[in-house]
Amino acid sequence: MLDQILGENNFQSEIIWHRTLAKGLAFTGFPNNHDTIFLYGGGDETTFNRPYDPYDQDNLDEKTASKYSHRDPDGRIYRLDNLINPNPNRPNLTYEFLGVNRVWRWTKERMQEAYDNGIVVQTKPGAVPQMKRYLDEQEGRPIDTVWTDIPPINSQAKERLGYPTQKPLALLDRIIRASSKENDIVLDAFCGCGTALVAAQNLKRQWIGIDISPTACRVMAKRLRDVCGIPESEPLWKAGRGFVVRDLPWTVEKLRVIPPFEFENWAVIALGGIPNKVQVGDMGVDGRIFPVSSSAAPRKSQEGELGLKERWYPIQVKQKDKAGRPDIDAFEAMMMREDCEKGFFVSFDYSSDALQEIESFFKRSHKVIVALTVQEILDEHIAKKLV
Ligand SMILES: C[S@@+](CC[C@H](N)C(=O)[O-])C[C@H]1O[C@@H](n2cnc3c(N)ncnc32)[C@H](O)[C@@H]1O
Repeated sequence: MLDQILGENNFQSEIIWHRTLAKGLAFTGFPNNHDTIFLYGGGDETTFNRPYDPYDQDNLDEKTASKYSHRDPDGRIYRLDNLINPNPNRPNLTYEFLGVNRVWRWTKERMQEAYDNGIVVQTKPGAVPQMKRYLDEQEGRPIDTVWTDIPPINSQAKERLGYPTQKPLALLDRIIRASSKENDIVLDAFCGCGTALVAAQNLKRQWIGIDISPTACRVMAKRLRDVCGIPESEPLWKAGRGFVVRDLPWTVEKLRVIPPFEFENWAVIALGGIPNKVQVGDMGVDGRIFPVSSSAAPRKSQEGELGLKERWYPIQVKQKDKAGRPDIDAFEAMMMREDCEKGFFVSFDYSSDALQEIESFFKRSHKVIVALTVQEILDEHIAKKLV
């Protein structure tokens, strides 16, 4: 699809981002532990700023260590590099230096100066002089297409907002740095809680974010205000300083009157879940959340199964003023049957019986039901409840 949209000739790289822990176990096959990033250029004006991984003098990989095998008395590491000009036809660069007659890269004056400064060395009399290239003056190892140095967001990370698919800032920082210049416009059409927007803002790029989930938009707006300190204000946005969130369609009043199917879809998508395709006979599950967890913790295996199921949390949605005890009972039965450790329930409000039942269910089974109201989902603090 990307080839069709962006042009197959613009394809440049397929990058593997290796998370350090697997997402969960699939039914068959190996645990999924990477995301794929496709890099496409934009024709002649493509920006590419090559990223480097700086060398760590005390911890060099084998290849670099064997290349940089020399050391000055003060400990500086260097390698010896060729000073001979690849073009043999340069009469003004042809001269004798330290008893060796060659076509050199540098003029005689420059060569002499470098020699006086200890940069040009002759390893033994009659040997071709070479130049020292110091490791600490090199940019580092060019980052290749396998990225293993960016860990996923763990449960203790400071940047963690609780949005289920949040990507680490370092990942988006690398992508945006490599492929854009200051003041360029970064578009993230599926921006979740806005990691790409924060990275773009930090790197002085302009940005546009789009997300189908109103929850995502609210979490993202709060993050841009709190983390980046940008005001959410139409007049400031027009003046090039603030930002605005457009087209948030839903209010509690509107959600009360839309068709039940639309309501279910809205609630499930707002929570970052996937709606159930089957509308009839859904056995009490309207949608599922597949948490992107940094710890591989597959659920217990059941008889006849190898314990390879991907972990998921059920979502049950009731377009009711008050969900009652029978609604919760039915959801609990489903969670027991499917052995789900956590589930989400959505309604406009809950009877006190229903809330008590959720508490005693936890005491009995150690399974958690997160009871969310529509008002809470519309609120930007919702992500905290989803963890
Ligand atoms: C993997 S998440 C993005 C995570 C993001 N990089 C972050 O760090 O938070 C994908 C996002 O795409 C959104 N999405 C799914 N379908 C969409 C659509 N048709 N249009 C816009 N956004 C959509 C989802 O709501 C979800 O927030």
